[in-house]
Amino acid sequence: MSEQTQEYINGMRPGPLTREIPECMRDKYTVVQSIIDVIVFVIVGVGYVIQAIYRTIVGYPKRDLKGGVAVVTGGGGGLGSLIALRLARLGCTIVLWDINKQGLEDTVKLVKGVGGKCYGYVVDLASREDIYRVAKNVEEQVGKVNLLINNAGVVSGHYLLETPDHLIQRTFDVNILAHFWTVKAFLPTMISQNDGHIVTIASMAGHVGVAKLVDYCSSKAAACGFDEALRVELETKGVKGVKTSLICPYFIRSTGMFEEVNSRFVPQLNSNEVADRVVLAIRTSEPFALIPGFFRVLLPFKWIVPWPCISELIRGLVPDAVPVAPNARIETPSSAPKIDMKTDSRPMSLLPPARHDRQV
Ligand SMILES: NC(=O)c1ccc[n+]([C@@H]2O[C@H](COP(=O)([O-])OP(=O)(O)OC[C@H]3O[C@@H](n4cnc5c(N)ncnc54)[C@H](O)[C@@H]3O)[C@@H](O)[C@H]2O)c1
Repeated sequence: MSEQTQEYINGMRPGPLTREIPECMRDKYTVVQSIIDVIVFVIVGVGYVIQAIYRTIVGYPKRDLKGGVAVVTGGGGGLGSLIALRLARLGCTIVLWDINKQGLEDTVKLVKGVGGKCYGYVVDLASREDIYRVAKNVEEQVGKVNLLINNAGVVSGHYLLETPDHLIQRTFDVNILAHFWTVKAFLPTMISQNDGHIVTIASMAGHVGVAKLVDYCSSKAAACGFDEALRVELETKGVKGVKTSLICPYFIRSTGMFEEVNSRFVPQLNSNEVADRVVLAIRTSEPFALIPGFFRVLLPFKWIVPWPCISELIRGLVPDAVPVAPNARIETPSSAPKIDMKTDSRPMSLLPPARHDRQV
């Protein structure tokens, strides 16, 4: 580092803004400038709040998604397939990524059944090489992607000390590291086209810790941080056409992931309603959506009331997130080959070994 730069950092050399200000005024200028900055911030902030209230009352304008190309990871089942169906109805070309070949084939058929254009790619999201390779194929074979929905997720569902290391690794590979690789693969084109939207399907578990979900909660908390930091980074760089949305649902019924969850007071969500909410967030460029919405009011209390209250509340709401261990849920016919859980990196509830990026 040059001497001049060091002097500038130490405040001994005037920076570009203060250079024109007389030496005797510089301290005062800093104070005056800070006061002006705060006043401007308050005025602009009040403006945004009024705008948000107005929009909440009259509704946000909805973006037309027709003609776009949407990649939905984990689109071979559960929430991903429901989102894909809705986006297809709105005129998007759908690209499904999943490790589950059978699920992909079924969803491609479903999407085509509603008149949509749909391509399925078998991808292992735990493999960075797979992601980069298939992303390139998609851009060549289908077109420029302007909507990326990072939806795929896995859960181990054991107490931390009973969770094998490779499952913890898998949780982070799929639930957060894959987001880095997919975004690195598709964001450059979105920026160059000044048109894109990146959706992170995280979870309420990214804001609240739950027993047996230590790896899951921490990977989802990372996903929340990923979305926010990426949004701020895009805004800092002045990229106006690329938006991000963070989606944090509570437990969802009938997708298979938390099928047996023991949840009290707050009912499990309807998967179709969650999919509708995700699509609404995309169409209105909503930065984040907590589902159900009243968690927006409840969550800040986490930092206000004493910890024992929070602990009682969490343990009262969710006495057991995974009452039936995921291994026990696999129904393996006696004739089927046994899966070696140590070397297997597939989601537990899922299907056959398929790691070729073929289109379905
Ligand atoms: N189900 C819930 O209660 C719930 C609640 C909050 C958040 N979420 C989140 O919503 C998202 C969707 O969950 P869901 O309920 O539809 O779960 P799901 O298990 O039904 O679907 C997940 C999909 O991801 C795919 N997948 C898993 N590992 C993969 C890999 N290595 N490579 C490629 N694909 C892989 C699966 O094959 C599956 O199709 C997840 O990120 C999940 O964490 C779910």
